[in-house]
Amino acid sequence: MSVGMPAITNASHAPVLLESVLVALAPRDDEVMTDATFGVGGYSRALLEAARCTVWAIDRDPDALVRAEAMVGAYRGRFGVLDGSFANMESLLARVGVSAIDGVAFDLGVSSPQLDDSARGFSFQVDGPLDMRMSRQGPTAADFVNTADETTLANVIFRYGEERNARRIARAIVRRRAERPISRTLDFAGLVAANARGKPGPQRIHPATRTFQALRIYLNDELDELRRGLAAAERLLRVGGRIVVVAFHSLEDRIVKDFLTERSGRAPRPGRHQPAVATRPATFVQPARKALRPTEVELERNPRARSARLRSAVRTSSPAWAPVGTSS
Ligand SMILES: C[S@@+](CC[C@H](N)C(=O)[O-])C[C@H]1O[C@@H](n2cnc3c(N)ncnc32)[C@H](O)[C@@H]1O
Repeated sequence: MSVGMPAITNASHAPVLLESVLVALAPRDDEVMTDATFGVGGYSRALLEAARCTVWAIDRDPDALVRAEAMVGAYRGRFGVLDGSFANMESLLARVGVSAIDGVAFDLGVSSPQLDDSARGFSFQVDGPLDMRMSRQGPTAADFVNTADETTLANVIFRYGEERNARRIARAIVRRRAERPISRTLDFAGLVAANARGKPGPQRIHPATRTFQALRIYLNDELDELRRGLAAAERLLRVGGRIVVVAFHSLEDRIVKDFLTERSGRAPRPGRHQPAVATRPATFVQPARKALRPTEVELERNPRARSARLRSAVRTSSPAWAPVGTSS
């Protein structure tokens, strides 16, 4: 892609918890940072402005990559773009000769342009094709809801959306698609909403929220990507290197919390049969165990930050833990 491409800008996008991200990443001159989820580039830009560091930006969305390429000229020699998944961060960075980094930020989930562009099919509030693919590759959400069997649909909606009406919604999907294929977001949202009734919770959310979240997580393999991305970061970070993760729902925050708890020498969620003992030398130190949340002021400015939780840690000198299933 050429540097001179027009930038796709989105004035409504405000980087979430930006100040806390910068404090935790603390970029210094000559350091190498990775923005694992470029999006609209809020974090990358702030890092580049905060110090004369180098930033490698990763995203798997072709639209985000166009925006990133458009930024290259402004920070010539200090900003590079890598097309792919952060789960493959090591091989992406190796291609440009980078084998160790001083900081990495993950800002999980979807960007504002992804949500706002009806053609991407992520939103239940604007009509568009039921797509939801971040990389624009592989099966779409419409392919999935029109072909998966009822049990698979129910399991996905329950597991990744924590939706207690999952069975009823799955049954309704199968019934509806026998009449005509499901292809549009609003049509699908209406179908889900009609079958997701229950006692309204303390925080009223749109009744299709959980099902849309479930399909997005499943189709983009978001939880496994996150596990792999965290493990890659552990291997890449130098001693003293910083990791920051901003999560937006409890499933992904649980993965981040357990990873950092375990890697900082505490066993996650000790139970009766699992005492809290460290099994291997800690690879991270956590400045704070509790997640940081946006302030009221930030929420007023940026309501999309409402469920954000930031966790950070600093790399120790212990070797990275081997992947599960290997002996060392
Ligand atoms: C919430 S946005 C990031 C916003 C960004 N911090 C900013 O300030 O503009 C998340 C971005 O991460 C990307 N993304 C999500 N999962 C990814 C993955 N596994 N690998 C690479 N990019 C991913 C999405 O395509 C999206 O552009």
